[in-house]
Amino acid sequence: MGWKFSHFGDQLGRGSGIGELMDDLGHALATGGDEVCMLGGGQPAHLPELDAVWRRRCQELLEEPGRIEAVVGNYEPPLGNQAFRESIAALLQRRFGWNLSFENVAVTAGGQTGLFFLFNTLAGPDSLAGVSAETQPRQVLLPLVPEYIGYANQSVSGPLFRSIRPQLELIGDHQFKYRVDFDAIEVDDKVGAICVSRPTNPTGNVLTDFEIDHLHELASSADVPLIIDQAYGSPFPDVIFREIKPRWDEQMILTLSLSKLGLPGTRTAVVIARPEIIQAMGSMNSIVGLANSNLGQAIVKPMLDSGEVCDLTSQVIRPFYQRKSEFAQRCVREIFSDQLPYRIHLSEGAFFLWMWFEDLPIHSQELYRRLKERKVLVVPGHHFFFGLEDACRSEVEPQVAGNRMNQANWKHQEECIRVSFAMPDEVIRRGIEIVGEEIERAYQSAT
Ligand SMILES: Cc1ncc(COP(=O)(O)O)c(C=O)c1O
Repeated sequence: MGWKFSHFGDQLGRGSGIGELMDDLGHALATGGDEVCMLGGGQPAHLPELDAVWRRRCQELLEEPGRIEAVVGNYEPPLGNQAFRESIAALLQRRFGWNLSFENVAVTAGGQTGLFFLFNTLAGPDSLAGVSAETQPRQVLLPLVPEYIGYANQSVSGPLFRSIRPQLELIGDHQFKYRVDFDAIEVDDKVGAICVSRPTNPTGNVLTDFEIDHLHELASSADVPLIIDQAYGSPFPDVIFREIKPRWDEQMILTLSLSKLGLPGTRTAVVIARPEIIQAMGSMNSIVGLANSNLGQAIVKPMLDSGEVCDLTSQVIRPFYQRKSEFAQRCVREIFSDQLPYRIHLSEGAFFLWMWFEDLPIHSQELYRRLKERKVLVVPGHHFFFGLEDACRSEVEPQVAGNRMNQANWKHQEECIRVSFAMPDEVIRRGIEIVGEEIERAYQSAT
């Protein structure tokens, strides 16, 4: 007999669908040898120019008297190194003209941890003092799914997300774009925050400035924060392939991360928010982990001040991923038969192509399994549609329940896969060839 786990232990300590999948991908990679086409993970590419910069910065830290001893030998305050927080604020002021200071900046152990703190602070049950039998927990509204799978299991209480099915804009024969369906969004008093990733993992969607402004209006009217997860966004790593106007004010919370800049191993991200939220982040950092890792902050700080980070994003990182995106799309056009009912989401940012196969006769999980057997690793799309079922509870009015039921039973969820284009060109091409073959076979076997 095992020891009894608490609610918290059950929620976070018993694994998750995506945890199993990532494990599965990792094992397949470890045992599969060179033939494996790893198109599944969110790992940033190792660019020689970037690796050289990180090596140089580590050498500089070693050479500066007393510096490395301080970096590895000291606890910094729970909110992060103050000079680093000042440099982040100064960069955002210079680049975007935002009115903020270090008091609007908290360091967290990766964006993942920052979002975990934010979601559980802003949604879930009210503190015990105010709870009555009728009190329902607040939720995080995801105005557009598919959305980042890493959110799905972050609740320490009950179901945390209320997701909205988007509108699909079909573009030409083989492209499409998700749009926020504002008619379907209701920000009632059970919504504690609205959240989007921009660019979106898994689709490469970049919500338009109009969509962000409209979400901002909704958030302001309900007086809840609009959280924008900028793991791939501006000012770093800025893997965005079209013009947008980054926005922040005290109604908003942004998360930025050093991971996709090329430093995922340093587990460093920042939350940009009003001071009340920043103080909460510091409190949680100290309770959960005392302090953050110092290395990422130390490596990047002078590069924020000198502008080197922005030069790297505009001259190395963004052009690299844009070229990869174009290459992957060219492979799809060349390899997939024009008759195949496939559509690729407009690739506007991040590291992924999101492929939709309309009326696919097999579930995306089965497609994943068949591809894995042929040593091609992708992420089956259904994992990214979470928070829809929750809206089907019977207490909602029949009319609304009907609509929401449709959301949950939406077959589109089983017809998509996410394919990373961060890998070498030959791996991408070989993987896409095999995806094309398996898709042909799936449609043919149904006729
Ligand atoms: C959209 C999005 N948000 C947040 C994260 C978390 O990244 P990290 O914790 O490495 O900053 C990721 C990682 O892949 C992501 O894709």
